[in-house]
Amino acid sequence: MAASKRGCLVLLCLAVVAPLLLAGGVHGHPWGGLFPQFYDHSCPKAKEIVKSIVAQAVARETRMAASLVRLHFHDCFVKGCDASVLLDNSTGIVSEKGSNPNKNSLRGFEVVDEIKAALEAACPGTVSCADVLALAARDSTVLAGGPYWDVPLGRRDSLGASIQGSNNDIPAPNNTLPTIVTKFRRQGLDVADVVALSGAHTIGLSRCTSFRQRLYNQTGNGLADATLDASFAARLRQGCPRSGGDNNLFPLDLATPARFDNLYFRNILAGKGLLSSDEVLLTKSAETAALVKAYAADVDLFFQHFARSMVRMGNISPLTGAQGEVRKNCRRLNGNRY
Ligand code: HEM
Ligand SMILES: *[C@@H]1O[C@H](CO)[C@@H](O)[C@H](O)[C@H]1NC(C)=O
Ligand SMILES: *[C@@H]1O[C@H](CO)[C@@H](O)[C@H](O)[C@H]1NC(C)=O
Ligand SMILES: *[C@@H]1O[C@H](CO)[C@@H](O)[C@H](O)[C@H]1NC(C)=O
Repeated sequence: MAASKRGCLVLLCLAVVAPLLLAGGVHGHPWGGLFPQFYDHSCPKAKEIVKSIVAQAVARETRMAASLVRLHFHDCFVKGCDASVLLDNSTGIVSEKGSNPNKNSLRGFEVVDEIKAALEAACPGTVSCADVLALAARDSTVLAGGPYWDVPLGRRDSLGASIQGSNNDIPAPNNTLPTIVTKFRRQGLDVADVVALSGAHTIGLSRCTSFRQRLYNQTGNGLADATLDASFAARLRQGCPRSGGDNNLFPLDLATPARFDNLYFRNILAGKGLLSSDEVLLTKSAETAALVKAYAADVDLFFQHFARSMVRMGNISPLTGAQGEVRKNCRRLNGNRY
């Protein structure tokens, strides 16, 4: 295995890395040092294994596609794309699963376990949990009808978690647009990434608690969010009462909740974006509004930008080389037995 990895690296050095090093060093590499062929020799079936288990999971439950896309996002925004989000509580680890954005909300962990077990059976200790998340997010997008992209690979798994990072660095649905943009910039992502990646809300569900404020008291004056379509708001209030029903579920894209398309952006134009963080893309900045309109008008443009931004998000601070480890069980460190 070591030999085949070295072979892979040599080929890559000749074909890709050397010219880029000359052009601007490792930091100039468009894929952040990761590359799609990383497992071609060490675990040639890796991509197929991930794809087939994701397909089974999505066939069992359509929503799982959305949940797996979000899982990669919540991984990457905390300490980089290093599978820190997958660690359970144990000695020295406070799980990110208990953070405000994740608690009673983030899902898909059992599917990741299933994928990891199949990968360990085929190629023990080889494919990282962080790469599983990146591949599962891509496969989920494609299964829901969205764009395909080649996933740069070679991430390694963290030796820790950060519940503080999870609480502070993942945007909240009632954050202002400047706060959301700041949280993306902190990750090396820009305004265009904010709008394109928010388009993931074309699939999946939200709990009442994530948008209730908009229905009753958006700015502290006892009134609903003025940017929310009034009849849509009235309908939402029926299932999302002033108190109680926190976990009642609503589609983020009311038109086509299981279909990865651009109707999310058309909803926003109609005042029917579910979250405040969705609607502010139209109402709080001319730059983001122009992108919302462009994606609403041109699904191919949205798909192209979404794929590009997913690669950019997937490149956030990966652990590579001898950093971190390849976990055998995504829920715990290799050295941690319980
Ligand atoms: C721009 C800032 C963002 C905010 C404020 C935000 C907020 C949220 C919230 C509040 C929910 C509902 C959670 C719940 O109530 O349980 C949600 C769901 C979701 N988010 Fe985001 N999100 C953002 C960006 C993203 C990004 C970048 C992605 C992926 C690329 C993403 C993918 C998803 C998906 C797919 C769901 C549905 C998950 C499911 O049904 O299990 N979001 N988001
Ligand atoms: C992890 O443990 C902390 C207490 O140390 C607890 O507050 C939290 O809910 C636990 N998280 C999970 C996901 O069980
Ligand atoms: C955002 O929502 C959280 C949780 O519901 C709440 O504590 C906070 O006050 C809200 N922030 C704003 C600015 O409305
Ligand atoms: C709305 O929120 C403000 C401040 O957050 C609070 O003082 C006020 O009582 C709330 N009004 C209603 C009708 O809930």
